[in-house]
Amino acid sequence: MRKIVIDAKSEKNVISRNIYGHFSEHLGRCIYQGIFVGDDPEIPNVNGMRTDVVEALKRIRVPVLRWPGGCFADEYHWKDGVGPKETRKRMVNTHWGGVVEDNSFGTHEFLEFCRQVGCEPYINGNLGSGTVQEMSEWVEYMTFDGVSPMAEWRKKNGREEPWKVKYFAVGNENWGCGGNMRPEFYADQFRRYQTYLRNFGGNRLFKIACGPSGDDYDWTEKVMEIAGRYADGIALHYYTVPLGDWAHKGSATGFTTEVYFDTLARALKMEELVARHTAVMDKYDPKARVGLLVDEWGAWYDVEPGTNPGFLYQQNTMRDAMVAALTLHIFNKHSDRVVMANIAQMVNVLQSVILTEGRKMLLTPTYHVFDLLKAHQDAVLLPTEYETQEIGEGEAGIPDLSASASRNEAGEIHLTLVNPDPEKGLEISLVFAGAGERRFSARVLKGNAGDHNTFEDPDRVRIVPFALPEPEGETLTFRIPACSVTEVTAS
Ligand code: AHR
Repeated sequence: MRKIVIDAKSEKNVISRNIYGHFSEHLGRCIYQGIFVGDDPEIPNVNGMRTDVVEALKRIRVPVLRWPGGCFADEYHWKDGVGPKETRKRMVNTHWGGVVEDNSFGTHEFLEFCRQVGCEPYINGNLGSGTVQEMSEWVEYMTFDGVSPMAEWRKKNGREEPWKVKYFAVGNENWGCGGNMRPEFYADQFRRYQTYLRNFGGNRLFKIACGPSGDDYDWTEKVMEIAGRYADGIALHYYTVPLGDWAHKGSATGFTTEVYFDTLARALKMEELVARHTAVMDKYDPKARVGLLVDEWGAWYDVEPGTNPGFLYQQNTMRDAMVAALTLHIFNKHSDRVVMANIAQMVNVLQSVILTEGRKMLLTPTYHVFDLLKAHQDAVLLPTEYETQEIGEGEAGIPDLSASASRNEAGEIHLTLVNPDPEKGLEISLVFAGAGERRFSARVLKGNAGDHNTFEDPDRVRIVPFALPEPEGETLTFRIPACSVTEVTAS
């Protein structure tokens, strides 16, 4: 029996909705086919955007979407992707699969997609191979409301009003694919490029510096020291790779129990990373003005057999649901510093919430986790006490429970619970201290660790109602299933 006490009378900080953000890249079938189908008459779309995908994303209230990369961002020249489609450059996507990039999805299309989904755009500028002028003009093109060459060009291309674009990153992984820079050099470049990213009219940019890879605390230290005062955020990247073996990441669907525990233990490393990078940031920014973004995270496996290795297409199981829920709980817990996170990637690449095949679409177990946890968006984090026991073995030992609670504006309390044990259910005794009289309801996602949805069986893994007993006073006692994520609502 695990006792969980939620202190409903106290409160912590607000959990930014942007923690539940996503990432889209010109990679494999993420943009083309996954999001954008142009004028394909076979697939229902509005202005080229897949209606099924847009509707599914609206249901999980996607708050923010990062684009166009990833490694693609530092090779992307935005001017190639505006203006009449016939004249847009056709080129090779050198990073991802060597396929033709016809630039038919560019700035206007991305911002139209965000409009349809109802999310904020987050644009990643090209520092690695782009100029200061090019980056500066991109912001001018999108957001300037006066008379200027870029604003005129935007109008000529069919968009009279400027867009509002808040989130803008200066380069991606500039320690690697974004130019192999040293932190001192990058930090100076950041200072220079960001100078020319202007706030036009009522638009206020939130400028994001390239942050570290995983546990590279030195990168954070140097960038914060040299450029911290010019940045609003710094972006950490961390991927969960089974056994830490990039050469043999293993199958997304076929794995042993040992690899299952290892994967979750590596996902949980996010806690240490966030805490230690925060400690470095605290040295230079004790008032936490600069936000920590984790703008790429998720599980990374071998591609599905028979698919283009450069497309990074992988299936998604209940193991991924565990990775997602445990990671999002960590972000909730550290939401006094973590202001945004973007799972990689939205559709058809790495830990996607949606997979498509022609006209067909399926929702992955990870999608359902975003659905179960969406009530935490912009809600107040509540102190939640509980004890855990270790399951798994050795370095792959993990706590047998994770819980996160918040209260939304309407006063409802939402608690999400993760039982990562692949075989055993867990008895829970839940105390809502000081919550007063409430009505309780619950939903659950459960299965075997390898369970997943296919185009033939798209609803094998899905959320189902979860029956709760009557409370005894302030206490509810029930058993959560093995390998499950449960949402309890107290209204
Ligand atoms: O998400 C795939 C790639 O992983 C991104 O393009 C890059 O930023 C990271 O290395």
